[in-house]
Amino acid sequence: MQNIIIAIDGYSACGKSTTAKLVAEKLGFTYIDTGAMYRAVTLYFLEHYISLDNPKEVSKALTNIHLSFQKTASSTNADMFLNGLNVEDEIRKMYISDQVSQVSALKDVRVAMVDQQQRMGKKKAIVMDGRDIGTHVFPQAELKIFMTAEMEIRAGRRQQELLEKGQLVPLTDVIDNIRKRDAIDTTRKESPLTKAEDAILVDTSHLTIEEQVDIVLHYATEVVTAKIKG
Ligand code: DC
Repeated sequence: MQNIIIAIDGYSACGKSTTAKLVAEKLGFTYIDTGAMYRAVTLYFLEHYISLDNPKEVSKALTNIHLSFQKTASSTNADMFLNGLNVEDEIRKMYISDQVSQVSALKDVRVAMVDQQQRMGKKKAIVMDGRDIGTHVFPQAELKIFMTAEMEIRAGRRQQELLEKGQLVPLTDVIDNIRKRDAIDTTRKESPLTKAEDAILVDTSHLTIEEQVDIVLHYATEVVTAKIKG
């Protein structure tokens, strides 16, 4: 497959990451989970008691944050490392989900993350998922997918994911967290979550993961074929 950028945006818990990971694997592309980056920043801010209302504190903290994706013996995909420590499990916990949208709404945080994301995508051959990839990080991406799904289905999937990681969270709490994050992510001033005009809308409510992956692969093939034909 020719090197292209595949941007997958959409609401929380629509299956973006699972789909993006598998698509990347099939194409031999690199998968970049931008949500993990915002989660790692949130973990750092919480651990260092950074006040979100204090721009000086925030920008100083950002200079002390070094993020990288690294493969480990126990993981099939790269794990998120924060200042040399594997934080992959920690950043998936509910206390991070509860704060991440507030942190990712801050302009300085976004500027720093987008800069890293754009550098990671320089060589193309990436599948990147997030909220603003098609609209802001890579508006020139060859393929843009925007995922959505019904709330009950999203919450059920997220609850199951948490359970598989040993966290038993009531469905009402999961719904509450997703609703709050949707509200902040779609209304924030800095590059809010919105579908790019040229993104393909995929409702995953009644799709299996395999179907979601097939849809993205189908469009990727179409894009590449059109490119070759010129
Ligand atoms: O994909 P996720 O649920 O792990 O993302 C966590 C939060 O990070 C999400 O609620 C909003 C924020 N985020 C963002 O603002 N921009 C991105 N490109 C990715 C995530």
